[in-house]
Amino acid sequence: MEKITMNNSLECPVVGIGTFMLAPPDAENSVREALRMGCRLIDTANAYVNERAVGRGIRASGVKREEIFLSTKLWPSEYENPNAVDETLERLGVEYVDLLYIHQPAGSWLAGYRLLEAAYRSGKARSIGISNFEGAYIAELETKWEIVPQFIQVEAHPYFTQTELRKTLARYDIKLMSWYPLGHGDKSLINEEIFASLGKKYGKTPAQVILRWHIQMGFVVIPGSKNVAHIRDNLDILDFALTEDEMAQIAALDKGVRYYHRTNEQLRQFAAWRPSFES
Ligand SMILES: NC(=O)c1ccc[n+]([C@@H]2O[C@H](COP(=O)([O-])OP(=O)(O)OC[C@H]3O[C@@H](n4cnc5c(N)ncnc54)[C@H](OP(=O)(O)O)[C@@H]3O)[C@@H](O)[C@H]2O)c1
Repeated sequence: MEKITMNNSLECPVVGIGTFMLAPPDAENSVREALRMGCRLIDTANAYVNERAVGRGIRASGVKREEIFLSTKLWPSEYENPNAVDETLERLGVEYVDLLYIHQPAGSWLAGYRLLEAAYRSGKARSIGISNFEGAYIAELETKWEIVPQFIQVEAHPYFTQTELRKTLARYDIKLMSWYPLGHGDKSLINEEIFASLGKKYGKTPAQVILRWHIQMGFVVIPGSKNVAHIRDNLDILDFALTEDEMAQIAALDKGVRYYHRTNEQLRQFAAWRPSFES
């Protein structure tokens, strides 16, 4: 598996699997099957309410824990819970995670970031990250972090390439992990003519061409799927390369438009909501 090196010298696989909106049985199944196919990066979150299922999938796969890069996220309801990290590890059934994010810049997010820093220092998180901290949020955190994060997880795809944010990331060598890499399955993105024609050239599906574009942008990509054939396809993107000209043609699709528009009211709601964790 191809890897990128983070700003703390540790490595992360360039492609993995995401588990957003996967109910526990699907999450367990997708994680187990992906690992058996050679996937080594799994992304989940407190808020997906499937961390126990992800843990079961990992154990059922037979793949050794140390070979897996496991990423999860603290939800805002947990930012002031001093046991949030231990409770997250307990649900996953692991002693450490490879990457621990704060999920949203909501509620007491600086307290949440301090939890990450403490987890990093104690070895419970081998790397740390921020999710959805674009614009003013990363600008404020930049003045307050004691440990520079290794990752930011944000919406990114050929229609929205995070041009502004990447200028800040470059200063600190913070890596970008794309969410909604396939536009959350949006057919208008996947059906863009350029992906069909490049797919024909390389013997790949349009989705594989989009995922290849992400990793050539330097992004780490975590497509979500409960379809075993899609999971296999999504991992099979390391044996071809788009040319500079093809990357430029895809860049022309950038509309600067997101699928997901978060409001301040939603941030308030995020802070007020506590996930019903699996018991
Ligand atoms: N930090 C955040 O706030 C945040 C927000 C959203 C997502 N995320 C993370 O990012 C991950 C990816 O985002 P996402 O899962 O929402 O969206 P996505 O990966 O862009 O799209 C997932 C959709 O694409 C379909 N799909 C997957 N592989 C395909 C293929 N090869 N061909 C055709 N369709 C395919 C899936 O359907 P099938 O199941 O039928 O394959 C599913 O409907 C999440 O799972 C989560 O880990 C993070």
